[in-house]
Amino acid sequence: MTDFRNRYGAWALITGASSGIGTEFARQLAAEKLDLVLIARRRDRLKSLATELKLEHGIQVKVVPLDLAKPNFINTLRKQTAKLNIGLVVNNAGFGVAGDFTENPLARELEMLDVNCRAPLIIAHEYGRQMAAHRRGGLIMVSSIVAFQGVPFMSHYAATKAYDLLLGEGLWYEMKKHGVDVITLCPGATTTEFSHVADTAPAPGAMAVAPVVRAALDGIGRTPVVVAGLKNKSMVFSTRLTPRRVAATIAGRIMKRLGRSV
Ligand SMILES: NC(=O)c1ccc[n+]([C@@H]2O[C@H](COP(=O)([O-])OP(=O)(O)OC[C@H]3O[C@@H](n4cnc5c(N)ncnc54)[C@H](OP(=O)(O)O)[C@@H]3O)[C@@H](O)[C@H]2O)c1
Repeated sequence: MTDFRNRYGAWALITGASSGIGTEFARQLAAEKLDLVLIARRRDRLKSLATELKLEHGIQVKVVPLDLAKPNFINTLRKQTAKLNIGLVVNNAGFGVAGDFTENPLARELEMLDVNCRAPLIIAHEYGRQMAAHRRGGLIMVSSIVAFQGVPFMSHYAATKAYDLLLGEGLWYEMKKHGVDVITLCPGATTTEFSHVADTAPAPGAMAVAPVVRAALDGIGRTPVVVAGLKNKSMVFSTRLTPRRVAATIAGRIMKRLGRSV
């Protein structure tokens, strides 16, 4: 186990903690004895997770029910965390929109842009400045293996994840001078509520959440980007060797098979 509390400080902030990968980040960071700020819209889920983690690990947990698509969400978050020294941020909340791009409502695409890109940008800026002032900290961006290529029938989702990847990768180098570690986690298909929300069939061979989260926590401070799992690593590697039109065509065929609505 690593000494996250010594490296980054007492408090970690996790977005999208009510489900899936975010809940697992909360569990693994609680086991590292970090105090937690848990963010998502579903208050009940956050509260029961907080109760569980406080009992099991004797840590402090603050629940902040928040819609990250709202324009002024950062004002609430700033107030709620004003007295806390946030040393580690996990920018994890996100969702996918699948289907024919021109048939999907633009409002849903814009909501995804807000949650997947605008919110992590604002959060990275807000807490990145505080970490830089303290000369230590950690930032985990959750992207995806779809960030490495165009993905027809999830075109805009893949674009949002490419944004997360490039923002995180750039900050990995840039924030070093402030003593801040940045890593971007690229999961492949993982067993969460993601496919239910995106209205696609669950991808075959999905990974469990525990090793996906472990890959990020083991990699932070060591590497800028981590792709979770051997199969996903080889998929990403092969994408780099494949002409872009071929990679996008293969992705489109896979999405046609997976999609209920595509
Ligand atoms: N599962 C996969 O196959 C996979 C693969 C690659 C990357 N990822 C990425 O992993 C991250 C976590 O997804 P997951 O797989 O764990 O999916 P999930 O189980 O559906 O969890 C998504 C989380 O995001 C939160 N969220 C969504 N919209 C929000 C909003 N407007 N405001 C605040 N919180 C919001 C949800 O909380 P509420 O609904 O309670 O607000 C939930 O906690 C996402 O960024 C996703 O892109 C997932």
